[in-house]
Amino acid sequence: MGFRTMPLESALEVSNLTKRYGDILAVDHIGFEVEKGEIFGFLGPNGAGKTTTIRMLTGVIKPDDGRASILGHDVLKDGLRSRQVTGVVPEMANAYIDLSAFGNLTLMGELYGVPKKQREKSASKLLKGVRLYDRRNSLVREFSRGMKQRLLLCMALISEPQILFLDEPTAGLDVESQRLIKDMIREFNRNGTTVFLTTHNMEEANQLCDRIAIINRGRIAAIDTPEKLRMQSSGLNSVEVSFEKAVRAEELMKIEGVREVKRTGDKMRLYTDQPSIVLEGIVDFARRRGLKVVTVNTLGPTLEDVFLKLVRGS
Ligand SMILES: Nc1ncnc2c1ncn2[C@@H]1O[C@H](COP(=O)(O)OP(=O)(O)O)[C@@H](O)[C@H]1O
Ligand SMILES: [Mg+2]
Repeated sequence: MGFRTMPLESALEVSNLTKRYGDILAVDHIGFEVEKGEIFGFLGPNGAGKTTTIRMLTGVIKPDDGRASILGHDVLKDGLRSRQVTGVVPEMANAYIDLSAFGNLTLMGELYGVPKKQREKSASKLLKGVRLYDRRNSLVREFSRGMKQRLLLCMALISEPQILFLDEPTAGLDVESQRLIKDMIREFNRNGTTVFLTTHNMEEANQLCDRIAIINRGRIAAIDTPEKLRMQSSGLNSVEVSFEKAVRAEELMKIEGVREVKRTGDKMRLYTDQPSIVLEGIVDFARRRGLKVVTVNTLGPTLEDVFLKLVRGS
């Protein structure tokens, strides 16, 4: 007799998932797993297939091929069960504008069979969490976009879902709403909720996610932790420099160890595998020209560098 270690349990299992719209292969045979307790990000540009994927996973549209299961419940064959453990913040807002914030929440709780006392208590708590409690009795039609989105998040959470799906939850929102939404996602995740979110925002994926899948044209280009995604792509170290006078990229290309030069605003970014040699080269270059260096920084690859490399092949 021995002890067996518990295998990591999946919250979400996806294989071969596919969706076509006419000639467009919106989602192209994708497969991945999300572990219980993870915040998993789907990062991709517009049109990558993020919304189509979320819609298949949450039972809004049917896949053409492949399968997916949520906590062991097949989303097609056992759709009711899988939806019962799921909360969704969809791409398009869907709160009732002629109901109050509180009314929307308690209605949602009722639909999920949350007992009256409990749903009222949860509604108050959730509204406090996203700073809407003072406005609980206002009709949603009076709400700003950021307020509506915060309410939608509360509506997704009132049933205490085991897995939460969010489709670009902070896109286009004011900074304060973004912060409140991210904090709420983190809080529920700390208490055990698994999170699947889509975003086109690298920084957001980096801040929130335990692992990220980079999706492009319906396919997954890479899956890993933000840190490993950055480390994987060698040759993306760079030295960022600005001189007091403009310098042409071609001239900087002549510095030893420089592979590529890109201009970003008033700064020049010199890509290299040997940052220290390039630093010396810059000092030398400036001295010979009688130029002053205003700022200089060595940078590791950013998630954005990795993303662009994978998505655009540049
Ligand atoms: N209902 C639809 N009818 C036709 N084409 C669609 C439909 N929904 C999405 N598409 C197409 O599928 C691709 C993926 O779209 P979508 O999943 O919305 O991407 P994302 O959410 O990543 O921006 C795009 O080319 C889009 O134009
Ligand atoms: Mg979308």
